[in-house]
Amino acid sequence: MPIYHKLGQIPHKRHTVFRKPDGGLYAEELMSTEGFSSLYSLVYHVYPPTIVKTLGEPYSVEPKIARAKYLKHTSLIGFNIKPADDYLESRKAVLVNNDLHISLAAPRHSMTDYFFKNAQADEVIFIHVGTGTLKTGFGDIRFGYGDYLVIPRGTIYQMQFDTEDNRLFIVESFGPVRTPKRYRNQFGQLAEHSPYCERDIRRPENLQTHDEKGDFKILIKKQGLIYPYTYGTHPFDFIGWDGFHYPWAFSIHDFEPITGRLHQPPPVHQTFDGHNFVLCSFVPRKFDYHPDSIPAPYNHSNVDSDEVLYYVDGDFMSRKNVVKGQITLHPAGIPHGPHPGSVEKSIGKEKTEELAVMIDPFHPLMLTEDAVGIEDERYYHSWAE
Ligand SMILES: [Fe+2]
Repeated sequence: MPIYHKLGQIPHKRHTVFRKPDGGLYAEELMSTEGFSSLYSLVYHVYPPTIVKTLGEPYSVEPKIARAKYLKHTSLIGFNIKPADDYLESRKAVLVNNDLHISLAAPRHSMTDYFFKNAQADEVIFIHVGTGTLKTGFGDIRFGYGDYLVIPRGTIYQMQFDTEDNRLFIVESFGPVRTPKRYRNQFGQLAEHSPYCERDIRRPENLQTHDEKGDFKILIKKQGLIYPYTYGTHPFDFIGWDGFHYPWAFSIHDFEPITGRLHQPPPVHQTFDGHNFVLCSFVPRKFDYHPDSIPAPYNHSNVDSDEVLYYVDGDFMSRKNVVKGQITLHPAGIPHGPHPGSVEKSIGKEKTEELAVMIDPFHPLMLTEDAVGIEDERYYHSWAE
């Protein structure tokens, strides 16, 4: 995240002697991205972060593709994904390509006996149901309904849930997830026209240094495999850190909608930028105020990108029979549009309470076996009914 942040103790100069009370040295670690060219943080550990005790057998968590090629409007009933006790086991990839994996998860239990590191992708975890704390070496981030947790690759974390009732919509991005460049000025500050600004970004807090030795299991995901590592020191042994590379949170409820006299196009809803995809937030807002405006969206041919909508809450002006947690996927190549009657119904309406997350990937998505298992097979026909 391009805001400088620091927590805990750090030495006055980087790469200099920094001693513990017992006279030993703290262990400095540079976490850098895109080689040494992009965002980075400097972390100071009680122990070196390299003390590997044992390596377990890696196992595959590669999504199983059920439908690689298709040309059909598709819908998934997301809340039909079954809850699972374990966080990692609960994550079910549904829509995937080489740029991103979209997963749904309903984890019941907090992570207590292991830590997780995604070494292949940045994660955006949208909290649809549930509250809890994201625990990392950088500090804690409390989360609740409507939060996007942005966790850069390489961050070791644990999810602690307050209850067993949790629903997550997760994007793994194989390129970095960033704030859109057009929202930022030349110095990286979010500009006045951006729908959110630095005040809305929640950074880690409450740094607790775990000065602990023992057996610490870290499951590391890389190239579709989970590598079980056992380290000899607690991964959250940071005495301090500073920099621009760390997990952060942003609430969809803090996204300020941009509205106009006439229908505004989807880019006004953009929230994050990924490599070959964008993520947008549709939030409650006043409708278009031209006297003859049609608030419902026009029919639309997305010529070269698929469109994924994840319905969170409220009424969906352009759809009928949509339920919370439902996903619609309108593939590139055929037009989609409002359901019959919804254009007429939208005229004269002053506001919408819709809340949804949209992802537009620029390369086609494949459906996994878990996706096919929760498919509403009649969706493609719903404009004719
Ligand atoms: Fe569209």
